[in-house]
Amino acid sequence: MKDKIDKLNNKIAEAHLGGGEKRIEKQHSNKKLTARERVAYLMDEGSFEEIGMLVTHRTSDFGMEKELYYGDGVITGYGTINGRLVYIFAQDFTVFGGSLSETHAEKICKVMDMAVKMGAPMIGLNDSGGARIQEGVRSLGGYADIFFRNVQASGVIPQLSAIMGPCAGGAVYSPAMTDFTMMVEDTSYMFVTGPNVVKTVTNETVTSEELGGASTHSTKSGVAHCTSTNDVECLEDLKRLLSYLPQSNKEVPPSLPYELGDEIRQELLNVVPENPNKPYDMHAVISGIIDEDSFFEIHKNYAENIIVGFGRLGGRSIGIIANQPMVLAGCLDVNSSKKAARFTRFCDAFNIPLLVLVDVPGFLPGTDQEWNGIIVHGAKLLYALSEATVPRVTVITRKAYGGAYDVMNSKHIGADMNFAWPTAEIAVMGAKGASEIIFKKEINEAVDHEAKLLEKEAEYADLFANPYTAAQRGFVDEVILPQDTRKKLIKAFSMLENKVSITPNRKHGNIPL
Ligand code: HXC
Repeated sequence: MKDKIDKLNNKIAEAHLGGGEKRIEKQHSNKKLTARERVAYLMDEGSFEEIGMLVTHRTSDFGMEKELYYGDGVITGYGTINGRLVYIFAQDFTVFGGSLSETHAEKICKVMDMAVKMGAPMIGLNDSGGARIQEGVRSLGGYADIFFRNVQASGVIPQLSAIMGPCAGGAVYSPAMTDFTMMVEDTSYMFVTGPNVVKTVTNETVTSEELGGASTHSTKSGVAHCTSTNDVECLEDLKRLLSYLPQSNKEVPPSLPYELGDEIRQELLNVVPENPNKPYDMHAVISGIIDEDSFFEIHKNYAENIIVGFGRLGGRSIGIIANQPMVLAGCLDVNSSKKAARFTRFCDAFNIPLLVLVDVPGFLPGTDQEWNGIIVHGAKLLYALSEATVPRVTVITRKAYGGAYDVMNSKHIGADMNFAWPTAEIAVMGAKGASEIIFKKEINEAVDHEAKLLEKEAEYADLFANPYTAAQRGFVDEVILPQDTRKKLIKAFSMLENKVSITPNRKHGNIPL
């Protein structure tokens, strides 16, 4: 018996060494934790149970039969985070650079299948050189098996990816199909092909960081939803993100206990400036509404003219979409429409109510936007919000102009409760632009054009640059005092808790992709 137990313990010890001491040292000197250290940090202490620790690859090409490592470059299993069940894979860069072999893929597929069956989130910690080059098409097949499962699990369980090393080729497509992708600054990259291939094919000279570093993907491409300064911060961010999400589409997100107080927030009175053309930071409105320090922003540095993220309101998890007047005056453009549409669909799939804060002067005009398809991309947000059946509440803080009024969760596209502040201006366009068009003749014929324009502008503003015409029609349910917003929203979301929506019977809609 002792021999047998020693044999098992030796195997476990060998598995724990991954690709060996030297490669572990290299991983540490590159400011990265090992796969095992990452799993241990992420999971509740002692909760992780490994599945498939002794799996090895089955390749004999290129002398590979002599290079066997237990686990085959990926640690898979289950455990708890803050007491809630999750499934996980963590690629081990010390074994063939975390590259994906047939067996490595089988291990990932096994835990993905379990996560879907048991209805619990799937977390992938990616640190991989892509397809295991020695395995050829068997590795490509393994990737496709994972991609297929990513799609089947989409909208069923939350799928979270952290990119914690250089991820190339196939290693980036699975994260792209998950719900959220986090990246670690300076130590992680994502690209379909690296700088050498880029140089050969397009003759561009580019560094890994420029091509696919955390900064590139969180500001330019939008591939990364969040970035962190190191592995530990990234794992903490994963835990925090998870706290807003339900286990699966069959559940609602966990709530924190909350007792309703007076909920008046005087600071909200001073956010919107007197001058309607002056910007202000919509973050101040968000923090004046939600529970203290509860905002978790997604895509913080990408398409900053719209803000999206999770927060808590009276302890309940909500998704927030808000125009940001500080950037491009809060206009909707291609990237902000895509950003908000994808966030909307995530919240809708996972029973997270939506709060939409509106201060939008319209869609961004110009050839750049038109040639890049603002029509179809703007339509994504319009489609996603129209389709969403979760409780949906709108607050118009200032401008709600033109088509953007319709798009930003108007009553007409199915919002449940629409509030407006007294500072709201709900109109086809701003008073100046509108007056120049509809009073063109009168202004041209006047002796003093400027004075006439100002007079007509005031006339138009008086009629439309307010929330009352919309309130008279019932397009706005209530005009509220800014300081009462939090209380009104807590009550509205509580009232909407048991909302049931009947949707048409169809295979799926055809969102303009
Ligand atoms: C097998 C690999 C490997 C791979 C790295 N290694 N990538 N082994 N298959 N894809 C091994 C190395 O041989 C090395 O082994 C160890 O991992 C660490 O690699 P290094 O190059 O020393 O590390 P580093 O300098 O940090 O560079 C990391 C890297 C680079 C940027 C990831 O290794 C790299 O460019 N790898 C190849 C990337 C790639 O082209 N992958 C295929 C993509 S095609 P030792 O023994 O020295 O420790 C693809 C198709 C799928 O994925 C498409 C599906 C849609």
